[in-house]
Amino acid sequence: MTAAIELEGITKRFPGVVANDNVNLRVERGEIHAICGENGAGKSTLMKILYGMQPADEGTMKINGEVVHFSSPTDAIEAGIGMVHQHFMLAEQMTVLENVILGSEPTKRGGLIDFGAAAQHLREVGESYGLTVNPDDLVETLEVGEKQRVEIIKVLFRGADILILDEPTAVLVPQEVEELFRNLRELQAGGATIIFIDHKLQEVLEISDRITVIRRGKTITTVDADTVTAADLAELMVGSELPSPETSESTVTDEIALEVRGVTVVDEDGRPAVDDVSLTVHRGEVLGIAGIEGNGQTELIDAIIGTEPMTAGHIMLMGENITSASVRHRRDAGIGFVPQDRQSEGLLLDAPLWENAALGHQTRRPFSKGWWIDRAGSRERTEHIRGEFDVRTPSVDVTARALSGGNQQKLIIGRELTAEPIVFVAAHPTRGIDVGAQAEVWNDIREARANGLATLLISADLDELIGLSDRIVVMFHGRLVAELDPAEITPRTLGSYMTGAALEHAATGDSGDDA
Ligand SMILES: Nc1ncnc2c1ncn2[C@@H]1O[C@H](COP(=O)(O)OP(=O)(O)OP(=O)(O)O)[C@@H](O)[C@H]1O
Ligand SMILES: [Mg+2]
Repeated sequence: MTAAIELEGITKRFPGVVANDNVNLRVERGEIHAICGENGAGKSTLMKILYGMQPADEGTMKINGEVVHFSSPTDAIEAGIGMVHQHFMLAEQMTVLENVILGSEPTKRGGLIDFGAAAQHLREVGESYGLTVNPDDLVETLEVGEKQRVEIIKVLFRGADILILDEPTAVLVPQEVEELFRNLRELQAGGATIIFIDHKLQEVLEISDRITVIRRGKTITTVDADTVTAADLAELMVGSELPSPETSESTVTDEIALEVRGVTVVDEDGRPAVDDVSLTVHRGEVLGIAGIEGNGQTELIDAIIGTEPMTAGHIMLMGENITSASVRHRRDAGIGFVPQDRQSEGLLLDAPLWENAALGHQTRRPFSKGWWIDRAGSRERTEHIRGEFDVRTPSVDVTARALSGGNQQKLIIGRELTAEPIVFVAAHPTRGIDVGAQAEVWNDIREARANGLATLLISADLDELIGLSDRIVVMFHGRLVAELDPAEITPRTLGSYMTGAALEHAATGDSGDDA
């Protein structure tokens, strides 16, 4: 049988790196095929080539047995390929329908957009794949899981039968991942071919039929998913055994580093996004905040960082009232910050790494001397971060845009931890980081914790939240609704608190387990 996709000898070079080095990939029709590899291994580059976003330097591509030459995604879409990017690309202020038809609007005579026909087609596509969305919903009102569904429908709407999903589960809670997987299996049953990228190896093993491992730009092997374990995969990916994250003793002290009292943040519509939240984080402690995106976590951390005005409450940092202090002052007073969205908040994508390493710290040593930027000092610090945090790059002079997603994240973590903060506000610190590097980041946070760092951790990775936190609070509809002992919960139970299911059970006297 002809394969859905055959890539032969694909090579792609960037200045100083060979991102894809003679890569071969064969994806059979109707299979779910995962691509695994470390950060910077070349996964996204290969998919962007397949989707016509960038040209390969060498190699051939065949779709359903035919040689193709794509010069843009439009060509790839024409050939039946659709791609769901790691970062959502939806226009928040538009409706689901507008987003889905954007760029492929069916027109009536005279060039007017035929919204009626489009809505009808959208419903049909949704129904035939069991993906329900309401065409009239504004995208900004949707939960992440629903946005993910819209992205997939958008691709199906254009008639794609080959789907590429680049790290689709990073922002989802277990319950949403299960739903996504149900949808993918349904698509597969309907004849679709799916390529799937994910750093969570258990998920890869669960959803895929076959797995291709890429290491430093080269294809290592393709294996049947039911013949390997997560440990096997990890070993294939890094070429050696993984460091195992060590279990650690509590280092919580009596000293309160961060105190949040009665904080309320009101959104544009006048509703409380954060509703009377109080919490304390001690030096040497990691406090985890669990919650599905959109339940106020973002607004809470923005209020702590100083980028979101509060309507009530106060915030103390090491005994100092910083409620109305500037962002700059808070950073200088010892708040380190890993933002939710690394690309828009954490980096200047077109600036070199050494400038990015100074971002937020540029008025301090080693980045400045008096009023002047200290280039040599900045570069030296950046080299240090590159080494300590294993940021894979040909040099510290490339732009942040040229780093792979996981390496961008490692640069941010390195920048913040190297500045030795007192309070570390970390939103999804290891999102998109490969399993090996994740274990290292966890060790870095634990080491800093032993030295008195107070961490406020927000993460959609429930294993991380449970593994790293000393305490976990659950945020739901703007409020803290439960405090849990990580030693006594499973990701599933935690997930059911996050969706509110456990709370309903609690209210009706049920145990709340495995909802
Ligand atoms: N536009 C670019 N300019 C220069 N180098 C690039 C560019 N895009 C990617 N690279 C480099 O190509 C290599 C592969 O990057 P790619 O994004 O494909 O990795 P990845 O496997 O998707 O990693 P991750 O898991 O971190 O997303 C990296 O070394 C990266 O720095
Ligand atoms: Mg990538």
